[in-house]
Amino acid sequence: MQGKVITVLARPNLALVKYWGKREKGKDCKYTSLNLPQNSSLSITLDAGEELLTRTSVVFSEKLAQDTFYLNGKKQDMKSPELKERFLAIEELRKLSGVGTRALIVSNNSFPTASGLASSASGLAALTFAASKALGLKIDSNKLSEITRIGSGSACRSLFGGFVVWNRGKLPDGSDSVARQVFDEYYWPELTTLICMTTREKKKISSRAGMRQTVATSELYKLRPDIAEEHVKEIIKALNKKDFEALARVTMADAMNMHSVMLDTRPPIIYLNDVSKEVIYAVEDLNESEKRLVAAYTFDAGPNACVICAESDADKVFAKLKGVRGIEKILKAKIGSSPKVLSDSESLINPKTLEPKFALEK
Ligand code: DP6
Repeated sequence: MQGKVITVLARPNLALVKYWGKREKGKDCKYTSLNLPQNSSLSITLDAGEELLTRTSVVFSEKLAQDTFYLNGKKQDMKSPELKERFLAIEELRKLSGVGTRALIVSNNSFPTASGLASSASGLAALTFAASKALGLKIDSNKLSEITRIGSGSACRSLFGGFVVWNRGKLPDGSDSVARQVFDEYYWPELTTLICMTTREKKKISSRAGMRQTVATSELYKLRPDIAEEHVKEIIKALNKKDFEALARVTMADAMNMHSVMLDTRPPIIYLNDVSKEVIYAVEDLNESEKRLVAAYTFDAGPNACVICAESDADKVFAKLKGVRGIEKILKAKIGSSPKVLSDSESLINPKTLEPKFALEK
């Protein structure tokens, strides 16, 4: 079969309550490869225009001898264990569709890969979204979220726009560990995120390896799953009331809780740097001088800070962050929408030659 080339645009998401830790094989997880989380998490999908997004084209064809994947112009090694794990999601889609043909995948991120800026989330969401369409599968968002989660946990949240909860679930087969939208992107449009880029370096330890180490060695981590579940409930309450201060308080608490268990890991995992610390002080200082919570910081597995605030306070917060030495760039994002299929003219694959359209890095 010569399938159709499908091109998709997907956006990253920012967790306000973080996912950090997987359930390993045992009574509440059938296979470790299901990538089931220890706790529920909650995110906002980010829309920074052309700045933070993934574009991915996928085609399945009998003419292809093997799966081939180009990321940011570079051919990837399909034998790498990390890629093999992530491609379990594609295997799952192939199984469901009954199509055995190989795939060509071409993907571009408009931001640094693996620098703690959620590139795996938009990347994997774009990949499974496009692949499911390229295979002609008619599956609901629950099923696609379940399959996307196998590729990357946080990616299952990027299948939705707005405010998204990824439910921990209880079933050992993972069928109830899926993401769902709690409010769409139009619900609270004033909510703004300022993304402070402090480094473009690749992180020293991947989230996947880091969280395994934390679950295995951190004593503090035992408390984390229950704390995070509570945080999800509190954030949903804050969202219901559009109560920014409550949202801000829990967002900061959850980020610091996650970074505490990272620090408590043997050997310690330290993603934050001096610039991250200065962002924390700047936001705390601003909140104190304004006598209200104007802004909230949060950090993923990297030093880049994301600061959320109301649009009406964004200039004030921006000005404060501009004063932090070491921030190279500040991007402004609003609440984003779910992945969308792009037109054929935006495809990254030449459908006749089945080759990527751009000049390749050697
Ligand atoms: C700190 O989703 O990248 O960003 O499931 O192993 O692919 P895998 O991990 P990943 O971890 C994201 C961790 C985080 C927190 C979050 O986004 O919830």
